[in-house]
Amino acid sequence: MIVARTVVELRAAMSSHEGTVGLVPTMGALHEGHLSLIRAARAASDVVVASIFVNPLQFGPSEDFDTYPRDEAGDLGLLESEGVDAVFLPSVAEMYPEGRATTVGVGGIGEILEGAVRPGHFDGVATVVVKLFNIVRPHAAWFGQKDAQQLAVIRRAVADLSMDVEINAGPTVRDADGLAMSSRNVYLSPDERMQATALFAALRAGGHVLETESNVAAAEKTMREILTAEGIDIDYAVVVDPDEFTPFEWEGPAALLAVAGRVGKTRLIDNLLVFPKPLRSSEA
Ligand code: PAJ
Repeated sequence: MIVARTVVELRAAMSSHEGTVGLVPTMGALHEGHLSLIRAARAASDVVVASIFVNPLQFGPSEDFDTYPRDEAGDLGLLESEGVDAVFLPSVAEMYPEGRATTVGVGGIGEILEGAVRPGHFDGVATVVVKLFNIVRPHAAWFGQKDAQQLAVIRRAVADLSMDVEINAGPTVRDADGLAMSSRNVYLSPDERMQATALFAALRAGGHVLETESNVAAAEKTMREILTAEGIDIDYAVVVDPDEFTPFEWEGPAALLAVAGRVGKTRLIDNLLVFPKPLRSSEA
């Protein structure tokens, strides 16, 4: 496995490989969620590249960039055992040399929900992902449904900028109790770890209400009640259109339930796709 820390090294490594290239961008502190994407990329590509870069551009000034978990040696061991061909591990100075002045801005979908709570976050994500695509030049890239809005923002940017890369989604990998795996879960105390299971519990209960009662407001209320009862400080608990992230209005078959909140000081997000049946007007 080649470990490239500069753009020049990565490009040199890629020039000696042939065939389709699959990219899995990450911020490291790898867990089974990341590895599921690596395995999907491995199964579909001749050459698999993973990137590990904690991207300062996507963190707000009061967020956890400095303390974000980092485990380079552990990550490299996992990637090697998954048969990854090359890892791109740039420094901040390598990715953002002095004088950098260009940002990829994603309006609309990039500015609501997560984008509203974390202003500039998705511009930071889109900028680094577009850079990674330009550096690695993958045929396809894999992203997790866990970060559903991020996935939609990247699809939007790729379409808007006519980028020639196939975007694939992998399902959310969860712990046995339902908590979505996240690099940030290591911040949780044992008590907070228990509280955090309320996110998936709220999504499932809200999904059940939506499927059985076809009532968006009731589903959102159910989610808020469960999260509040567990002491989670809610940023949002909503039912949205899975592509646009605007309020769900029964235009398509699928609805996305999305929650975000703080468990202690740790901010967690999760989502669940459901297929509710609309009530006929005579039943409403
Ligand atoms: P990171 O949080 O490290 O996640 C890297 C990829 O793994 C993302 O596509 C994310 O959606 C996916 N992922 C995380 N947890 C998952 C889970 N439990 N199940 C399935 N997939 C999961 O997301 C980022 O990094 C960054 O924003 C990045 C795209 C790398 C740009 O900096």
